[in-house]
Amino acid sequence: MAGAPQIAARVLQLRAELDQHNYHYYALDRPVISDAEYDRLFRELQTLEGQHPELVTPDSPTQRVGAEPLAEFAQVTHRAPMLSLNNAFTDDEIVAFDKRVREGLDAEAVDYAAEPKFDGLAVSLVYADGRLVTAATRGDGYTGEDVTGNLRTLRAIPLRLRGARPPAALEVRGEVLMLRADFERLNQRQREMGAREFVNPRNAAAGSLRQLDPRITATRRLAFYAYSTGGPLGGGLRKHSEVLERLAELGFPVTEERAVVTGVAGMLDYYATIGAGRSKLRFDIDGVVYKVNDLAAQNTLGFVSRAPRFSIAHKFAAEEAMTVVEGINVQVGRTGALTPVARLKPVFVGGVTVTNATLHNEDEVRRKDVRIGDTVVVRRAGDVIPEVARVVIEQRPPDTREFVLPARCPVCDSEVVRSADEAIARCSAGLFCPAQRKQALLHFASRRAMDIEGLGDKLVEQLVDSRIVHTPADLYRLGVIKLSALERMAEKSASNIVAAIEKSKRTTLARFIYALGIRNVGESTAQDLARSFGNIEHIASAKVEALQQVQDVGPVVAQSIAEFFAEPHNREVVAQLLAAGVSFEETAAREIDTASPAYGKTFVLTGALPRLTRDEAAQKIRDHGGKVSGSVSKKTDFVVAGEDAGSKLLKARELGVAILDEAALLKLLEP
Ligand code: IVH
Repeated sequence: MAGAPQIAARVLQLRAELDQHNYHYYALDRPVISDAEYDRLFRELQTLEGQHPELVTPDSPTQRVGAEPLAEFAQVTHRAPMLSLNNAFTDDEIVAFDKRVREGLDAEAVDYAAEPKFDGLAVSLVYADGRLVTAATRGDGYTGEDVTGNLRTLRAIPLRLRGARPPAALEVRGEVLMLRADFERLNQRQREMGAREFVNPRNAAAGSLRQLDPRITATRRLAFYAYSTGGPLGGGLRKHSEVLERLAELGFPVTEERAVVTGVAGMLDYYATIGAGRSKLRFDIDGVVYKVNDLAAQNTLGFVSRAPRFSIAHKFAAEEAMTVVEGINVQVGRTGALTPVARLKPVFVGGVTVTNATLHNEDEVRRKDVRIGDTVVVRRAGDVIPEVARVVIEQRPPDTREFVLPARCPVCDSEVVRSADEAIARCSAGLFCPAQRKQALLHFASRRAMDIEGLGDKLVEQLVDSRIVHTPADLYRLGVIKLSALERMAEKSASNIVAAIEKSKRTTLARFIYALGIRNVGESTAQDLARSFGNIEHIASAKVEALQQVQDVGPVVAQSIAEFFAEPHNREVVAQLLAAGVSFEETAAREIDTASPAYGKTFVLTGALPRLTRDEAAQKIRDHGGKVSGSVSKKTDFVVAGEDAGSKLLKARELGVAILDEAALLKLLEP
């Protein structure tokens, strides 16, 4: 048997080797051994450490996973704020940026460090005496969440800095992301387990990072690229490009795609090159970033509000790709609206494989003249729904036919009607149409309505098709026995669903009203109605005039509400739901402060806010008498923009609408 000193030496050697392989794999993108070989070394180290616990140190590769699951993330205040970047979309904006920089520096030509703009999540890594001590998310830029336990599991992040003389204190900033290949593997695994797939690598990375249990993060293989430091790195470095090189020496992955360029021409050249090679990168990017390369010059330029003057993000336009329309399906929505949807030959665009694209409505199909067999340009920007941008008319095959919307509902064969003032054609059958019934049930069960977990597409489909469920009230009569009789339904899942349905009985009046799916009554209106009337009977029996007294309820909405409750079938369903035990928490009749600057104002939320979820922000706005709308128009009073805000922010700028960040919103609401 080997003696203790030999074992200690072997342990050190294995650690060094494993660190080296991580570095090769993640930082250099040049693995020198296979995954299996890596695992073998790892297991050897694990075994030795198991036999000699006194040899275990916190920075051993075996100690990456080990933190206990958390109840919630702790808050971390960043030593220096993590700012955001201003965005540019056009060449002119880059010309203007360079002009501002040159004027600010009184310089003829400026060198810029150019890098890809990683489409992941910004994090901060704090090292003390060469060891990783704290890792945090960006949060609102001032405080983030402590995700040390999670980020320790990333093999791309050194637990210990490389090299002989690491700085005593160092904060590294960079982006956590999921490589495309790892994303594909993850989704493959999700499919095999029957779990939900992730939409794109960014969402997958976010979901994997924000896990309270680090063991889950550990299974996800996240990558990391460093792009700056939290404070000066010292060591006489004078350029940003030198900082990146130093970070690479210290063991951090730094992208190879970086460059130092001069002036506008250099920046635009870089943008074009990266743009052309984008699809070949191992990860998703949404643009490039330029930073004045000289650190002293960066200092001179400083910051405006929350973004540096020395840097700008040059974003890519929405991605487009060509494919063929294989068919045009007509979908029937909750209110009977018929939506033509193009079935496409699968095409990879904007980071996802697209197989469908909405054609919105009949007029839209006519305007674009999309036909089956056509080659079309599909466009997708960020997280938005893909759409058909245009037809490539030169490639239209002979004998295509103009698309006509069917005169009868494709699902229930009832008549399709289209009123003169509407762009939308509808199936006239209401809830007698199974498609509408399914959608109505899905809406009823949705998260912001009755929030019945587990009642998704497939199950609703089965329940309606097997004629077990006709109305929402029928859900409350389902038992485990009825449910388990369905195909592919295990008893365990059946009882979970029954429990979820039971749980949904305790709700709020606002959610209930919203859940009913009354035409033109969204969440906001449902809350106003709940607040003004206080109970469902009052709303059901209210006259149009009384309904119109409610904030933002105009004649059209009032009419929809009155019509809904005039229908005996609807009153019956409501009565059955109440009889089944649906009950409401007292929504403490909150006095709305009419003096609030938000009162009566229209807000649009866009991008990811650092602290509040969208729902929370919307709720706060409504609590102060404000309204939340989905699109920016001249009537919008405020646009609340978070990270990666897109076209809505542009529109707001164009229209001169006031733009708030989260902090400004909170200040407005709670001065
Ligand atoms: S530097 C002072 N470099 O973009 C700002 N940021 O809009 C320092 N990002 O939250 C940021 N790639 O998550 C920088 N090469 C890059 C980047 C990058 C992506 C993200 C980062 C930040 C956001 C700012």
